[in-house]
Amino acid sequence: MTDLVATARSLFAPGKGILAADESVHTATERLAAHNITTSAEMRRQYRDLFIGTIGIEQYLSGVILFSETLLEKGNDKKLFSASLTKRGIMTGVKVDLGTEPFPASQHELITQGLLDLPERIAKYKKQGAVFTKWRTVFCIDGGTLPSAQAIHENAKRLASYAKDSQTAGLVPILESEVLFKGKHSRTRARTVIEETLQTLFSVLDEHAVDRASIILKTSMALSGDANEKKDLPEEVAEDTLAALLKSVPRQIAGIVFLSGGQTPDQATDNLSAICQLSKKDGGTTPWPISFSFARALQEEALSSWKGKEENISVARAAFLARLAKVSAVLI
Ligand code: 13P
Repeated sequence: MTDLVATARSLFAPGKGILAADESVHTATERLAAHNITTSAEMRRQYRDLFIGTIGIEQYLSGVILFSETLLEKGNDKKLFSASLTKRGIMTGVKVDLGTEPFPASQHELITQGLLDLPERIAKYKKQGAVFTKWRTVFCIDGGTLPSAQAIHENAKRLASYAKDSQTAGLVPILESEVLFKGKHSRTRARTVIEETLQTLFSVLDEHAVDRASIILKTSMALSGDANEKKDLPEEVAEDTLAALLKSVPRQIAGIVFLSGGQTPDQATDNLSAICQLSKKDGGTTPWPISFSFARALQEEALSSWKGKEENISVARAAFLARLAKVSAVLI
């Protein structure tokens, strides 16, 4: 087993998952504003410290994905965030894409940017302590027309190029392919789009000779859109999500982690629980380990308690730990 494969597999230690704490400046500003917190660079550092500085997270987390800015910052304990994670046995990852822009060939769709100077940036992040990376592509469902085959293919090509650069530099790539929850679409339509996007992705990865064994896939669950009146049962979500993944994802990859995608913390936890239960049915129906890599579903309750105030830190951290415990429990 190569070091890269060993690192990728160790992110799936029993009962552990990955915290996505890699919101860009723009997204972090939005998240904090939603809780009436005015952003500044120092407020963003305190926001990161709220989560990374929580004592005991190593019981539930194998990795944390950081935004590049955070790699250079220190927690309230005056230690670099990455060093304090490493000390607790938690691996540091970094988001390496530079966000999305409208896709020139189809203006209502998004394409992820950031390939230009990627090898240089990855080398720099490695020196700063990162052992894994993440690149996010995003697809919006619009009726039967979007996402277009062109957008699916171009995003897959960029994911493949990123994965190759990350592997070449010796960092495990997490390939995030998000099918947005926003919209009126049915769960069946979401399932089909997950299948189409992942089937294209894995065929393009093979063309680029990306090593399957050291990649981690980060995916959405198959859900009815948030504007669809149908409320999915966790068992329905589990059935469609696993059916899509079993049809589209090769058995050799290191594992699959789920994003929360705007679900409430309870909804994401209950759906992940049903997915894990179904995956273990009859002695195990899935060839890859499964875990979580949530941002919002892990952070939301803590942010509501925190409100940017020092006196609320301990209550907020208790809420974060309680959610981590619930999410971790469904994996075992
Ligand atoms: P959510 O869990 O909030 O969807 O975030 C996951 C993520 O990493 C988005 O890039």
